[in-house]
Amino acid sequence: MIICVGGTKGGTGKSTVATNLAVMLATSGRDVLLVDADEQGTSTDFTNMRNTNRPDGAGYTCISLTGRAVVTEIRRLTPKYQDVVIDVGGGNVNSQRGALAVCDLYLVPLAPRLGVDHVIRCSLAEEDGVLTGVLVGGNVRGPEKVRRLQSWLDGEAVELWAYGDSSGDDELLALADHPTRVRR
Ligand SMILES: Nc1ncnc2c1ncn2[C@@H]1O[C@H](COP(=O)(O)OP(=O)(O)OP(=O)(O)O)[C@@H](O)[C@H]1O
Ligand SMILES: [Mg+2]
Repeated sequence: MIICVGGTKGGTGKSTVATNLAVMLATSGRDVLLVDADEQGTSTDFTNMRNTNRPDGAGYTCISLTGRAVVTEIRRLTPKYQDVVIDVGGGNVNSQRGALAVCDLYLVPLAPRLGVDHVIRCSLAEEDGVLTGVLVGGNVRGPEKVRRLQSWLDGEAVELWAYGDSSGDDELLALADHPTRVRR
């Protein structure tokens, strides 16, 4: 699959998502090509660091492409990889247009556009700058969703809209003034 992490706004986390996605897919055993289609070179820098710091290297292949090569090279290389992840520059409309023409999936970081100012989420434990894979405080599921929301609200009265698609959302939906169950 060819996944493009895009969006024209700068600094929304495109490179962070693209590099993490490449690592995640590679770690799960996929043969991954990460395409850095941004002259800023964030994905290339990240990959160089990973190649330097890890005995087995980055675990995926990273190339830098610009202009028309984004389309022609990705078309040529796609059969050789299981997944292609493209990191495009926010201001680089040409690379973005090219990536859009070849990708199966176009991911756009949504939170900045929606004006989200806080996210309650799982976070990964870190040891000496390395993510261990352990969730800090466990998974945010079931009653833990309610507990973390109430702890963040700290007694503030709010009108709560909640959307859920699994049994792990039951407690949150029971708490909400406007619960909506979404079918998967
Ligand atoms: N989920 C997150 N939480 C906190 N900080 C984040 C998150 N995602 C990204 N960042 C930080 O935000 C900054 C911008 O991220 P990133 O470089 O991935 O954005 P970008 O969209 O690729 O930017 P550009 O448009 O310049 O290419 C970085 O310092 C990154 O570490
Ligand atoms: Mg970037």
